[in-house]
Amino acid sequence: MREIIFSLVFLLCTVNLFVSSVSVARKPQTIKKWTIQMVGYSPMKNDDYVAVSMEAPTGYIVGYEPLANADRVHHMLLYGCTRPYAESGFWRGESTCGGGGAHILYAWARNAPNLELPKGVGFAIGDSSGESGIKYLVLQVHYAAPFAGRVSDYSGITLKVAAEQPPNLAAVYLIVSGSPIPPHQPAFQNNMSCTYPSSTVLHPFAFRTHTHKMGRLVSAFYKRDGHWTMIGKRNPQWPQLFEDISRPMEIHEGDFIAGSCRFDSSGESKPTPMGSMGSNEMCNFYMMVYYKASDENPFPFGAYCSNGVPAHSFDDYPVEGTELLPARPELEHHAHQSAVPFGVIEEAKFTHIGPVKLGQVAGLSFDPSHNLVVFHRGKRVWNGDTFNGANVLNNKNPIDEDVIVISKMEGKNASLVAKTGKGLFFLPHGIFVDSDNSIYTTDVGSHTVAKWKMNADSSLSKVWEVGTPLVPGAGSTHFCKPTGVVVKGGSIFVSDGYCNDRVVELTLDGKYRSEFKGQGGFKIPHDIVSNSDTHNLYVADRENGRVHELRNDGSIVSIFTSGLFNNIYSVDTHGDSVFMIPGEFRATQFGGEELPIAVFVGRAGSGLTEYGFAPTSGPFTRPHIVRVCPHGDHVYVGDIDESSPVIWKFKIQHEGANHETDGGTLSFFSTLSLPYTPDVSSGYSFLVFFLFIVFVVGAGVWAKRKFSEKTPQSSFSRTGFKPLRMEDNIGVSSDESDAD
Ligand SMILES: *[C@@H]1O[C@H](CO)[C@@H](O)[C@H](O)[C@H]1NC(C)=O
Ligand SMILES: *[C@@H]1O[C@H](CO)[C@@H](O)[C@H](O)[C@H]1NC(C)=O
Repeated sequence: MREIIFSLVFLLCTVNLFVSSVSVARKPQTIKKWTIQMVGYSPMKNDDYVAVSMEAPTGYIVGYEPLANADRVHHMLLYGCTRPYAESGFWRGESTCGGGGAHILYAWARNAPNLELPKGVGFAIGDSSGESGIKYLVLQVHYAAPFAGRVSDYSGITLKVAAEQPPNLAAVYLIVSGSPIPPHQPAFQNNMSCTYPSSTVLHPFAFRTHTHKMGRLVSAFYKRDGHWTMIGKRNPQWPQLFEDISRPMEIHEGDFIAGSCRFDSSGESKPTPMGSMGSNEMCNFYMMVYYKASDENPFPFGAYCSNGVPAHSFDDYPVEGTELLPARPELEHHAHQSAVPFGVIEEAKFTHIGPVKLGQVAGLSFDPSHNLVVFHRGKRVWNGDTFNGANVLNNKNPIDEDVIVISKMEGKNASLVAKTGKGLFFLPHGIFVDSDNSIYTTDVGSHTVAKWKMNADSSLSKVWEVGTPLVPGAGSTHFCKPTGVVVKGGSIFVSDGYCNDRVVELTLDGKYRSEFKGQGGFKIPHDIVSNSDTHNLYVADRENGRVHELRNDGSIVSIFTSGLFNNIYSVDTHGDSVFMIPGEFRATQFGGEELPIAVFVGRAGSGLTEYGFAPTSGPFTRPHIVRVCPHGDHVYVGDIDESSPVIWKFKIQHEGANHETDGGTLSFFSTLSLPYTPDVSSGYSFLVFFLFIVFVVGAGVWAKRKFSEKTPQSSFSRTGFKPLRMEDNIGVSSDESDAD
């Protein structure tokens, strides 16, 4: 039920976003998005703490959009610091700020959703932060365990930063206990308290509780004139979001603030200390407060309330503060942290399907029985002699081999179900199989797109063919080296391709309907897929190194941009995950060092990448196509390396990655809005450009050395990587248009 409410709230918020971004003139407020992300890190041990820093932009944070999943990340904390702990922009260990003020700005754990601050409230950062001196943002990420396979993490937080000062400023007041928990106690109560010292009146508006696994309840109250008022209480085993405080309340100078954590230590045989490791415990109550911007800053150096000597006795702490909340299995399930380490495991690598030796693996799809459908080139390869200067194929003989191979994939086995297509294709590229088992192909050699039915004897019958065979061209009757095809609703979309740089929409019977060219123009749209959850199209805009997330009419939802790889060959999606793969390493503005190619996994709608993975048995050579199986738990990559074309098979490992129960990579992604819905700005844009920072595979290699002395042109600076503002389009250009 709660999830349904979340989803509804999310939908409403989405609608609001659209509404407010359309009604521009009414409220001129500028909100920019900034993202601070981990740098492609692979945790090396259990309870690995790392941090990244960036210079704080100037303005007022009015919302947080976490980009993380409890499968990979135990928690994230965002600090506002006068100085970061290290100049390098990245460091290992638990340090965050390096002296001066240390302000908690946000905390995330257990799949907590997005957070919007109430209208008129913001966290002042950068030059706006005055006495607090928040010159840097530091993101601390706690990984519970190393990943399985070669996985690099880019978890982070997108900040929504308003330019104008709101009437109220926000702070996070942390109530924290350091006392250990004795063993064998089913209901041990840990207490913390302080007296609020400032004359500035605080208005608590949200709170979050945090413990590790023994925590059952965390609560906090304030006491004035002998009367206790509850600020909030929550089961820390639920998603650790900031829950709104619906009743208005104020904390005044001299008020006694007290909090309590209830633990169940009955399974323990020795005392459990407070600490950051998973085997330790924590007892935290984070209170988000605001105060009038015109009042004195009550927390110039950070806002902490710890268990010093209580000025008041705990004896009358309200029982309500220690009574457990009713069980909420759906929340507990959602917040559950995986016991299986997250990972992407290379399961197999195929050079053959049954007896069929694979040629260049150009396209992959799945048939309705979830068999893998492979479109390869047999003995033919695409090289400098394949086409003449006018894009006309030199060898006009079709490939005399079965270039479509249907395979049942079981574990490490790829058995042959059927093979077909002999004598019908010139240079296979893209393939798509629809729910009726019709096969759609693009042939870059013949410049055509075709629909086929497979007969009982495995032969193919052509249903229709569009384009003019062997004649490249544009307009509604020709294609020029078309690359990908997908059926979506009542339309067929073709990425076309190497010369026309367009996506063509066809009717289901193959008639030209319309076309579009992407943001600023595609440069070799090389692959196209659709997603039934987001209802969007995804186009790999190869030579621009981007992925476009689009609606059917070509309007843009988001754009994924790579700062590291200047090419993206293929894209596929499942749930809200977007899988993207570069086809080759090419030097970029980051320099010419050979970095391994990886599959990058982004989050639909955000333009941001969350993690990446690469094979363990050896690097990708020339990956051409990435496809996620319909269950979402296996990823296939087809490689067109001429000497040894292969299909890689990866398994995404996380708890519950199981067909029957949850459908793989689907993740919870919604927004919980606080009571006062903020106005979303005119300046708000859905285009969030981002940076693939650095992909570090395996342990021990951190690119600090490589990047710490970069020029200001680089996205890294000595004091931390600077994220891209959404307006910044990092253009990466390449004049290559290789024959692939
Ligand atoms: C915390 O306060 C309660 C009274 O509310 C008391 O019973 C308990 O012993 C205290 N816990 C500790 C560790 O002092
Ligand atoms: C793979 O094939 C081998 C040999 O044919 C067989 O023993 C094994 O059970 C198969 N594995 C799966 C997962 O089907």
